[in-house]
Amino acid sequence: MSSPNASSLQTADHHRPLSHFMPPANWMNDPNGPIFWKGRHHLFYQHNPKEAWFSGPMCWGHAVSDDLVNWTHLPIALAPTPGGPDKDGCWTGCAVDNSGVPTIMYTGVHPEVQCIATGSDDLVEWQKHPANPVIAQPPPGLDVTGFRDPCVWREDDAWYVVIGSGIKGEGGAALLYRSPDLISWEYLHPLLVGQKESTGEMWECPDFFPLGDKHVLLVSVLGTTLYFIGAYRDHRFYPEIQGNTDFGGSFYAAKSYLDGAGRRILWGWIWEGRNEDAVKAAGWAGVMSFPRILGTDGSILTMEPAPELRALRGASEKLENFAVAPGELLLDRISGDSLEISAEIDPGSAEEVGLKVFCAPDGSEETIIAFNRAEGRIWVNRERSSLSPDVHRSVNGGPFKLNEGENLSLRVFLDKSVVEVFANRRACLTTRVYPSRQDSVHVKLTASGGTAHVSRLETWKLLPARIE
Ligand code: FRU
Repeated sequence: MSSPNASSLQTADHHRPLSHFMPPANWMNDPNGPIFWKGRHHLFYQHNPKEAWFSGPMCWGHAVSDDLVNWTHLPIALAPTPGGPDKDGCWTGCAVDNSGVPTIMYTGVHPEVQCIATGSDDLVEWQKHPANPVIAQPPPGLDVTGFRDPCVWREDDAWYVVIGSGIKGEGGAALLYRSPDLISWEYLHPLLVGQKESTGEMWECPDFFPLGDKHVLLVSVLGTTLYFIGAYRDHRFYPEIQGNTDFGGSFYAAKSYLDGAGRRILWGWIWEGRNEDAVKAAGWAGVMSFPRILGTDGSILTMEPAPELRALRGASEKLENFAVAPGELLLDRISGDSLEISAEIDPGSAEEVGLKVFCAPDGSEETIIAFNRAEGRIWVNRERSSLSPDVHRSVNGGPFKLNEGENLSLRVFLDKSVVEVFANRRACLTTRVYPSRQDSVHVKLTASGGTAHVSRLETWKLLPARIE
């Protein structure tokens, strides 16, 4: 049987996103080695080109974009070499510019070892280094839970890498190494070790970078990407703040890079939320998040959708200055399953305010994004998002407070089965929903315990990206 192609999948399947990056078909997970190279954004990703499931040796898929919105698929960059250290998969890693030579460091399995590949100038052809694996085992004496997903950077004197790991019985760890040439590596010490009770026992996909006058370490664990912000001195990291890049429970393995304008851009894997049979029947799995621009004032990580996404704005509607009394308010001019919504809401006397999307006319399906002031919590509820028995149902959220006089400022993107929420640039919630009814497209506002006030609610049809 031949593989489905992107256009047959798109026309047949009203759950397949049209504005987010995805491979033409089959399985995708982590973003890998995003890099801004010769003025273009290159995105690699974990990919099983043979099936819409993670079984089978993992490859690095590859695509390029001029604008962060429209993408051109390129040939698979890395595939397992029979008999080689990556014979069972080319797992997650990073890409760096080694004095003009594009270089990927990635994990070969099994066992988990670190490998190097160098690329042609257009990043299309990749040669694996004869010295692979360049790191053949975890540091002697450490009883580790895993050893993968290298993140490399250059400092004045040398190359450095942190590798995702964990110390059994203790907690997740990012292990730090140094090298003069990306080939011979010397183990230094853990950059950071967590506590297994609070941050798990295995840290996947570490990402370490300067931001403002601080450093940020991202680690993916317990189904989410956590961040630490702190000081980096003498090759040691002193975290001061810990947070979560996303409270929606569907955003993972996030990876960042710097673009030509010096912006720190973050991509994450949005996984599926339905059972294996439904995923395989669809013929595709995994969506890349929209790109987020990161910032910090030292006390939080700020995250905003890249301004380039405005290119996806189609027909718009604007509502201004209206009240939401306790109960529900149907926005009858606004509907869609491909939509951007931007809202400024003053909770007023309401204890809880909400936005309902993907609502069926009879209320049988709906997805709720809500903020409760008293609880100091924001969440997304997909318990009633679909009548289908094949989907995951959950409520996912996290702590969120408004400052005195601050409005709830929401940017929400709906792309068929993807929901991405940005709240006040500091909380994100990403989830997947699969409404069974094609008419589950209505949008409502809700308030309880009092009346909320909306100063502005603007929507745009989300246009399909060109991904070919
Ligand atoms: C994270 C992860 C990585 C690993 C890759 C394999 O989702 O488990 O740790 O390198 O996926 O595809």
